[in-house]
Amino acid sequence: MDDLAQFKAAQRDVWAHFTPLEAITTRPAARLVRFSGIAASHRVLDVACGTGVVAVTAARLGARVTGLDLTPKLLERAHENARIAGVAVEWHEGDAEALPFDAGAFDVVVSQFGHMFAPRPAVALGEMLRVLRPGGTIAFSTWPPELFTGRMFALNARYLPPPPAGVSPPPQWGDPSVVRERLGSAVKDIVFDRETMYAPALSPAHHRENFERSSGAAQVVVQTLQKSDPPRLASYRREYEALVAEYFDANTVRQDFLLTRATKA
Ligand SMILES: C[S@@+](CC[C@H](N)C(=O)[O-])C[C@H]1O[C@@H](n2cnc3c(N)ncnc32)[C@H](O)[C@@H]1O
Repeated sequence: MDDLAQFKAAQRDVWAHFTPLEAITTRPAARLVRFSGIAASHRVLDVACGTGVVAVTAARLGARVTGLDLTPKLLERAHENARIAGVAVEWHEGDAEALPFDAGAFDVVVSQFGHMFAPRPAVALGEMLRVLRPGGTIAFSTWPPELFTGRMFALNARYLPPPPAGVSPPPQWGDPSVVRERLGSAVKDIVFDRETMYAPALSPAHHRENFERSSGAAQVVVQTLQKSDPPRLASYRREYEALVAEYFDANTVRQDFLLTRATKA
């Protein structure tokens, strides 16, 4: 297996614990669906759909929806979510960097905190634009590097071994100037907006505990340092809680994100 294939296999394990966090990505999903203008007549692809919060929201509007994700465990939950909602969604296990769909197959391609985790931005974006019809809408939600979630990923990265060469830091997708450059002349009419995801927590330490349970990235830090370097783990936990404290008010952690929408040229 080459380095990138190994990286993606590890990502599949890392994301397998994400299901409890669907409780907080559910509201932003409705925001992205509205922002992207999804309507009943549309064929919609949700890239890196996780447990299907965006896909199911779009399907409830009557759209014909396909969801794709790398992580089988999350797709099991996505099936369940569609069944409970009483909608039909076509689910695919797959990679955002190699979408198994025909060129121009979709009217709208969306991704919520998803395609930003594909290691090579140009490859994932190229695929998302390939399967979108000319005149169709691409829209995504991403974490800015300078705000809570982006800073949290940077903190984790400082405590983890470096990723293989060629893997781009996900929060670059949260910088409008980077997004504009990446979209380039393939699209027109780029629109940016901002929104907040709210995570309830009784204290910064509760947020850290929840995160360590549901984020593979944090679990890897904990597992690596617990035996090899407990003082460094304690330092990670202190830094994490200090970061959370900056965004914590009234039992809520504020996670601001960027929304991007554009029309395929
Ligand atoms: C933060 S979760 C977001 C899930 C969902 N979109 C939501 O908003 O709840 C990130 C998702 O990206 C998926 N993912 C990571 N790398 C991927 C890749 N290369 N191709 C497809 N999915 C990927 C993970 O499996 C995970 O479901």
